[in-house]
Amino acid sequence: MTTCSAIYKLCLVAAICSIKACSGSCPVLECWFVQEKTGRGGLSAATSQETSVLHIRTDGNAAETRPAPSASDRVYFITDPAATLCHRALIRSRGSLEKPECEINPFLPQPSTLKWVAPLTDSASSPIYLQADWFSTTFRGLDGQLAISTVTRAPTASKEHRVALSVTSRTASVQSRLGEPVVLDCGFWADPSSPLAGSGFAVEWRYQFRGAGRLVLAYDGKADRLADAREEGATLDFEGLHGKGNASLILPEAKVHHSGMYICTVYLAYLVAQVALELEVVEPPSLSVHPSPLPLAVPGQTLTVQCEASGFAPLTLDLSWEFKGADGAARPLGSGSVTGHRQAWDGTYSQSSRLELDTTKLDLGRGGEVTCVAVHVGGTRRASVTLNVIGFSSPSIEDSMAMVGVALVLYGLIKFVSWTFASSGSDEAGQQDKKDK
Ligand SMILES: *[C@@H]1O[C@H](CO)[C@@H](O)[C@H](O)[C@H]1NC(C)=O
Repeated sequence: MTTCSAIYKLCLVAAICSIKACSGSCPVLECWFVQEKTGRGGLSAATSQETSVLHIRTDGNAAETRPAPSASDRVYFITDPAATLCHRALIRSRGSLEKPECEINPFLPQPSTLKWVAPLTDSASSPIYLQADWFSTTFRGLDGQLAISTVTRAPTASKEHRVALSVTSRTASVQSRLGEPVVLDCGFWADPSSPLAGSGFAVEWRYQFRGAGRLVLAYDGKADRLADAREEGATLDFEGLHGKGNASLILPEAKVHHSGMYICTVYLAYLVAQVALELEVVEPPSLSVHPSPLPLAVPGQTLTVQCEASGFAPLTLDLSWEFKGADGAARPLGSGSVTGHRQAWDGTYSQSSRLELDTTKLDLGRGGEVTCVAVHVGGTRRASVTLNVIGFSSPSIEDSMAMVGVALVLYGLIKFVSWTFASSGSDEAGQQDKKDK
């Protein structure tokens, strides 16, 4: 019975494996087909949205794997020789509701007038090649880190697309400590069989933050020339760029003002594709508590303690206080009065909190450890000072017991003394009486 079910299981596993092997490891992707509405409507930017299905494969003559017709009207077969779209972050796990993000749009190839791109179309290469159906597609992986953008071409009215250009980032969201070198990952692949690939490429990195943008770096790969306007220190690995399409941006030292969105754009003649990456420079605060050490406190006295958090970014910080007494249990003392923030020359922030320590009201006993706690995305930091309360007045249990004991002894003593006096007094009186008689 058990062997039977084991064999059955093995068969099942083998069957699943062979199905997977058949389909390669390239995904079938559900994708939103988004198109600007044609017809009336004039200037209004109305768009239409339809579902579509993309079958990805790595070689063009894989007709035998043609899948069954789907419910969707829009089914496309995309040949991606570089297998960029076969990344596991785009493959949905069985039974999972989570899908990779995908959007596909019609694309219009056109020459660019940008100084570092214009030379690519100098020779007016093969415009006949451009007469085809072009799509631009963006993908976002399930890991939240993979971002791909492709330009694909299909002979007019065919559904058999081929990737002409793909741009990929494996780190769509990057965190860096202040002062560390940062690499923003971006790579591209251009179909060598496309006539457009021969005329070279250009790379552009732009920075975008709250609507404002600036050029970080632009490189004309045809003339091997960097544009003049460029952010200090920003560079590319030029060998890797020409050899392997590694267009990663290198920032030698992360600064607070580097936080924001970066767009990596790669141009071929007439074609363009781009991916966006988010960089966040995160630095936890340094804490100091003063006065340190705290002066000795007498009961009833109020001490003021100040905690200064500095050098942190981004701005959001939660400052609070804790007290740990002789019993070892930590107890919150609230957030104190928190000041507004200040920004230093390097863009980092500082903020402080003042705490009034009322030795009677707060029930601090003989003292203990007062701790300032700063909670920040970069990590939680703590700083402590020791509080000593002297001439401690309110009695402890041992003290009370001792006092009761002393009272009892005193009481006994008084009783004894008074009894001795009383008895000797009456004896003397009796003897006096006898003498008188
Ligand atoms: C691309 O270049 C950067 C910077 O030199 C490097 O850190 C990264 O590993 C390279 N990526 C690949 C895929 O080679």
